[in-house]
Amino acid sequence: MPAEPQKGFRIGVLVSGSGSNLQSIIDRLHLSDSPVEVAVVLSDNPDAYGLKRAAAAGISSAVFPMGDYPDRSQHDLAMADDLKRHGVELVVLAGYMLIVTPAFLERFPRRVINLHPSLLPAFPGATAIEDAFRCGVRVTGVTVHFVDEGVDTGPVILQEAVAIDPGDALEDLTARIHETEHRLLPEAIALIAAGRVQADGENFHRIVIK
Ligand code: GRF
Repeated sequence: MPAEPQKGFRIGVLVSGSGSNLQSIIDRLHLSDSPVEVAVVLSDNPDAYGLKRAAAAGISSAVFPMGDYPDRSQHDLAMADDLKRHGVELVVLAGYMLIVTPAFLERFPRRVINLHPSLLPAFPGATAIEDAFRCGVRVTGVTVHFVDEGVDTGPVILQEAVAIDPGDALEDLTARIHETEHRLLPEAIALIAAGRVQADGENFHRIVIK
């Protein structure tokens, strides 16, 4: 009989929508012999399809609508409490559309990562794939980075380039970006779980993979 996977590195995943990246984390890490276990999925949006994906995999989830809290910090602190209750060591923003507050980051110092569909610092913001396509660049890509107090500014963990071919429609590029995301985000999480993602000496902005 195959040995049961040795789990132990507990992550919390925050989603706002479809959750296709959550699904790739579930398939490639949670359900494999990786040490990574999705302890809980949180969303600001009660209709997020990602919540159904969590339920289908038997993963607990909870919804934190922004309107239920007096301000963003209170909202984020309630989420942080829930993540801590689930013993989460790493928070993964996978298509989470709200900006997390400094109060939240203080609860998980250098333990919050985000996925972004461009080669940062090019094309930050919510429409990165379209922005790169319309700008006419020949290469864009995907970034996984630590979250800091800026928007799409934190230290880069992994990046992968995606070429834009002259004959591409926006849909072609979008599909290739998503395929790349579905590989790169689980890879970054696995590297962090293995303790291989470290700051380069005194330079906290430069990450090295050991
Ligand atoms: C991804 O393209 C991610 O880069 C961006 O939001 C999208 C989320 O997709 N931040 P999904 O919800 O994981 O399908």
